Amino acid sequence: MHIDVLSLFPDMFSGYLRESILKRAQEAGLLTVVLHNIRDYAAGKHRVTDEPPYGGGGGMVLKPEPIFTAVEAILPPDTTAPIILLTPQGQTFTHAAAQELALEPRLLLLCGRYEGIDERVRQHLVTREISIGDYVLTGGELAAMVVIDAVARLIPGVLGAADAAEQDSHASGLLEGPHYTRPESFRGWSVPEVLRSGHAANIARWRREQALRRTWERRPDLLTHAPLSDKDRQFLAGLTENDG
Ligand code: 6GU
Repeated sequence: MHIDVLSLFPDMFSGYLRESILKRAQEAGLLTVVLHNIRDYAAGKHRVTDEPPYGGGGGMVLKPEPIFTAVEAILPPDTTAPIILLTPQGQTFTHAAAQELALEPRLLLLCGRYEGIDERVRQHLVTREISIGDYVLTGGELAAMVVIDAVARLIPGVLGAADAAEQDSHASGLLEGPHYTRPESFRGWSVPEVLRSGHAANIARWRREQALRRTWERRPDLLTHAPLSDKDRQFLAGLTENDG
């Protein structure tokens, strides 16, 4: 997958992209991230990228020309690559959205800044708008990084174990249950017996029930869409009975 990022602060991305899984994905040729500075596409000696809003009011607005010029220089003319604006006004990003984007060979992420972006960019250039939640950030860069991370780990081969992404919280529609590692007893708190039993079927059932319980406790809204077996439903019915 090839991801172009258009930002006024491309250096914000470098540290995160140079470590751990995203670093390895790039080294393996599974992911290419190209950072572009909007300012490089702005005209004139001063390379102005933003100006005050028409009609008055505070703040500055990103100008359309540098952004159109940049996107037209970066993407081939006949491209179908999504042009995604990161903005608190966008659709809230979910695992399902990450899965959709992971199918694309190429993405362009446009990071908004300041008070806003000229509306003509939204109307005539951008194909999708994404927010990462109901709070306001100083700019779209962290949100773009979140999208890159969530999408990259779904690209086949990026995660070590073949099924690592399928087991995650949200991938199954449920939150994950608890994990334990050595030591077996830490400050008197011991690892659940079943995990040390070596009985694969019991371990699988215990993990499933822990995931169901955790989801029921913390995110009951997820249970309406999660694929559940009859056994799962019986277990949840038992939890509800014992509640209060
Ligand atoms: Cl994508 N941008 C900004 N500036 N704030 C946000 C956001 C994006 N998503 C949540 N808050």
